[in-house]
Amino acid sequence: MANKLVYVLNGPNLNLLGLREPDIYGHDTLDDIAAMLEDRAQTLGMEIDMRQSNHEGHLLDWMHEAQSKGAAAILLNAGALTHTSVALYDAIRSIKVPVIEVHLSNPHAREEFRRHSYVGMAAKGSIAGFGAKSYLLALEAAALI
Ligand code: DQA
Repeated sequence: MANKLVYVLNGPNLNLLGLREPDIYGHDTLDDIAAMLEDRAQTLGMEIDMRQSNHEGHLLDWMHEAQSKGAAAILLNAGALTHTSVALYDAIRSIKVPVIEVHLSNPHAREEFRRHSYVGMAAKGSIAGFGAKSYLLALEAAALI
């Protein structure tokens, strides 16, 4: 059987992981997280396509692409766009591919403005607060749905 394809999409400022506020986001870089995911994906019989952009439109295009490529799931850490983007909300609702919202930190335990998530309103489910391991937990969830 073909491996399940999973898109892992990362939004603004996540290219700076490892350097960016390590007390909140940890010391792992996005490349470290990609390597962890590749490893786990192999044991789960999944294929990962991981990307990052600081531009909202790229995330939208990649979500549409995930659908056209027959992806089984999208793990989406939209960064700050989580809290602002109606376009992401619409995109998630516009595709059939289940989207799992991912955050390294727990937005509910931080500033008030992080408590609202347009992504979470449309996503299949959310995993937040486990640092880099949030991505691994989200991949496990993608394997189960
Ligand atoms: C984040 C949480 C967001 O509130 C923040 O804007 C980010 C990172 C996280 O992974 O914890 O950029 O998505």
